Amino acid sequence: VWQPVGVDQSTRDNRDAWNAAAQKYIRENEEMLALARTGSSLFPREIELLRPLLAQSPRVVHPQSGYGLDDIALLAEGASAVVGVDFSEVTATAAQRRADELGLDLQFPLHHASAEDVPLPDGCADLVVAAQAFHWFDPAAAAWARDMARLLRPGGHLFVFEAHPMVSLWSKDSDVTRIREDRSYFARSFVNDDFPANGAVEFQYSLGGAVTAAIEAGLEIRHLAEHPEPFWRHGGIDAAAWRGHLPNTFSLLARRRP
Ligand SMILES: C[S@@+](CC[C@H](N)C(=O)[O-])C[C@H]1O[C@@H](n2cnc3c(N)ncnc32)[C@H](O)[C@@H]1O
Repeated sequence: VWQPVGVDQSTRDNRDAWNAAAQKYIRENEEMLALARTGSSLFPREIELLRPLLAQSPRVVHPQSGYGLDDIALLAEGASAVVGVDFSEVTATAAQRRADELGLDLQFPLHHASAEDVPLPDGCADLVVAAQAFHWFDPAAAAWARDMARLLRPGGHLFVFEAHPMVSLWSKDSDVTRIREDRSYFARSFVNDDFPANGAVEFQYSLGGAVTAAIEAGLEIRHLAEHPEPFWRHGGIDAAAWRGHLPNTFSLLARRRP
């Protein structure tokens, strides 16, 4: 098994957890292909916010690209090129094989080194689209945002659609939402106890921390909104927290100064 060099133990452990989770996307390859052929994996909210930018045929970089269906959707929505990067060789290989089977010109270079060090040249992207991405890094957000700003050409945009930082505190009870006593909004990290990243360490950030990270990376904030819909509804659960009265996701659009 390939082991990344110069990467700390928690990143290695996370990569192992993601490689294990990604087996699902290999088992379900046929369903994934069918989904890619018939619909979009992007949330309606993401499409609404991205559409004016995608109308300009941007070159897109998609960090932490995962199963690769968003890359396919971004191409279908107007991107001229999409490069997805991920540190899980299982995920990246499966995403590349699916794109090849669909005859799409997509690349998923493996992201071998540390997270805030994407192996792509400065200024190569008109648009960076990130979803469920930056809480995998320590220190969450700051170094990641600097690397995303580096990838953008002057005037290029960073679009983020993430789980709201409060989500780690919501219980998944179906009757009423409880605040988990084993979690803190201001903690540094917690161990994920859900599929798909069960066992992986997630680093925490506050909403203010995420915005400040983008500003300190030299980006101008153009939009910030909190949304009730969850990023991830896992099988068979109907959590009260997902019924519209609590924040579960946020979207952020920032621009590198022209
Ligand atoms: C929740 S998935 C997001 C997938 C995709 N952005 C989407 O919206 O469907 C998170 C992805 O981040 C990748 N990842 C986690 N930590 C990483 C790291 N340190 N470097 C590179 N990729 C990482 C995982 O392998 C996983 O595929």
